[in-house]
Parts: sequence; structure tokens; C-alpha cells
Amino acid sequence: MAGIFLTFEGGDGSGKTTQINRLVAWLESRGQTVVLTREPGGTDLGVELRNLVMHRKGFIAPRAEALLYAADRSHHIHTLVRPALERGDIVVQDRYLDSSVAYQGAGRVLDPDEVRELSLWGTERLMPDLTVLLDVPASVAKARQAAEDRDYDRLEAEAEDFHTRVRESYLALAEAEPERFLVVNGESPIEEIHQVIITRVSDLLG
Ligand code: TMP
Repeated sequence: MAGIFLTFEGGDGSGKTTQINRLVAWLESRGQTVVLTREPGGTDLGVELRNLVMHRKGFIAPRAEALLYAADRSHHIHTLVRPALERGDIVVQDRYLDSSVAYQGAGRVLDPDEVRELSLWGTERLMPDLTVLLDVPASVAKARQAAEDRDYDRLEAEAEDFHTRVRESYLALAEAEPERFLVVNGESPIEEIHQVIITRVSDLLG
């Protein structure tokens, strides 16, 4: 495809939003056409699914949760991301299938290969050109969120050991695919992280 697909991953409170906004501003200042989007919730249907899966009170079976995220992803890729990539745009996306492998696989303890395969089926096997992983210990992320003084969603509210499993899963994914992943220490200064990211993205742009 003509475009470039960049995804950001990391635990809740890892600083993705800050880095994504900086990267998008940098790309646009260089004259690139950027589509900024996220999962879950990058489409109208996705907004409804996001509300369900993140804010529904009460239990959702782990496999049902995995299917809801996968449904959001499938519709998002089909209706928004693939068309953008076919036009030659740069898609910068907050979370993609690695989130499902980490949260539903390691967090909810489902088979990670099955969770990944579900998303690959849903997206007709679309993989990112680059995935930036902002790595932060679960305890640090939790402290950052506590400082925000707002209600937690269903996933954020999980105990620290859930988020530690998520982090370990992300690191294992990055180790298994070192060419796709850029792992950055999310505790480094914001500007330093940004520089590391744009250096790698510059290489990708050629
Ligand atoms: P965020 O949009 O604020 O990052 O929140 C999304 C939440 O949903 C976050 O807690 C991670 C979780 N999540 C999953 O559990 N599985 C997924 O596939 C995705 C995309 C997100």
C-alpha cells in the first residue's frame, strides 16, 4: 500500500497521547497528510463499541471482550484505515492488535496466539509498518493516573498485577518482532522520547 501505518502501544498512563500529538504535529509541519485515529472508537460504530466495552457496568466474559475489541478493529480498518493507506496517507493510530494480545491475552489470560489470529482475521492481516511501545512500570502508570483525578474505565480499574502482565506481554511482543517495534522508556523526558520517535519515523519516510 502507498501509505504508512504507525501504531502506538503501551499501558494506560504511559504517555501515548502526548507523544502521538507531537508526532502528528511534526509530520504535518513536514507537509505530510496524516490521519490520526484510535482503537477502540475510531468510527461511529467504534464509539458505541468503545462505550460498551470500556464503560459497561458489570461482567463481560473475556472472550466476549476480545470479540468486541476485534469487531471495533475490523470495522475501523475496513472503513477508515485501509482507504487512507490506499490514498497514500500516514495513519497514526493509538492502539492496535498488540493491545488485544497484551490486555485480553496476558491480562485476561486468553491464548495470545488465538487473540492475535482473531484480529488478523478481522483486519485481513493488516500489520503496522512501525509500532512505538512506550514502556512504563505499572506502578508509575498507576501513580500518573491517580494524579488525573477521574473515573477509571473497566480495564484501567484492574489491579496492578493485571497491568504488570500487560507490560510483560508488550515487551515479549517487541522482542519477538524487533524490526516492527521501537521500544522507548516512557519515563524519559517528553522531548527526548519525541526525538527518538521522529528519528525512527524519518528513516521510514526515507
Ligand atoms: P485508551 O483509548 O484510553 O487507551 O483506552 C483503551 C482501553 O482499552 C485501555 O485500557 C486498553 C484497552 N484495550 C484492550 O483491552 N484491548 C484492545 O484491543 C484495545 C485496543 C484496548
